[in-house]
Amino acid sequence: MEQDRRKWNQRYRSRSYPETVSGIVRRFAPAARAGRALDIAAGNGRNALYLARIGFRVDAVDISDQAVNDLASRHPMVRAIRTDLDRYELPQRSFQLIVNIHFLKRRLFPQIMEALLPGGVLIFETFVASDLAESGPTRRDHLLRENELLHAFLPIGIRYYREKTETTGRGRRRIASLVARKPF
Ligand SMILES: C[S@@+](CC[C@H](N)C(=O)[O-])C[C@H]1O[C@@H](n2cnc3c(N)ncnc32)[C@H](O)[C@@H]1O
Repeated sequence: MEQDRRKWNQRYRSRSYPETVSGIVRRFAPAARAGRALDIAAGNGRNALYLARIGFRVDAVDISDQAVNDLASRHPMVRAIRTDLDRYELPQRSFQLIVNIHFLKRRLFPQIMEALLPGGVLIFETFVASDLAESGPTRRDHLLRENELLHAFLPIGIRYYREKTETTGRGRRRIASLVARKPF
C-alpha cells in the first residue's frame, strides 16, 4: 500500500534500526537445509544478512525503497526485492526456509505454506493483541489473536510455539513465536 511505503521510507530515513539478529532466527535457522531462504518484510535486513552469512541464498522483500536500496549491496547472497506484499505472489515450492518477523499479512499464510519446499522450515514471530501491551503495532489487522498463528500453520506441522508477554525498553508487548516444518 502506498501509504505503508511512504511511512516506512520516512522511518528508515529518520532513524536507524538495530541490526541485532532476531533470537528465534538465530536459534532455529541453522536447522533448515541449505538453499534458498525468503525474508518476508525484511526491513534493514538484520535477519536476511545473518541467513546469508550462514550460507543461505536469500530473497529479502520489503515495501520500503529506502530499506531495499540500503540492503541491496550489503551481501552478494542477499537479493533485495522492493514489492508490496499486499499484492506480491510468493513463488511455489521454492524455499528451504522462510522467516517472517514483526510483520503480519494474513493473505500470505496459505502462500507461505505453498512456498516452502518439502521439509522446509518456517520461523514466524510477531505481535499479539493484548490489553497489557504498551508497545508494538496498534492497528488490529497488524496484531494476531491468541493462538491464531498456531492454528494457521497446523497443516504443516508445528515444531515450536509460544506466546509470551515481554518487557522491553519501550514497554510491555505480547509476542507469538512459531517454528513449523513442512512434511516431506
Ligand atoms: C517492524 S518492520 C520489521 C522488519 C524486519 N522483519 C525485522 O524484524 O527487522 C516491518 C517491515 O514491514 C515492511 N512493510 C510494511 N508494509 C509492507 C507491505 N505492504 N509490503 C511489504 N513490506 C511491508 C516495512 O517496510 C518494514 O520494513
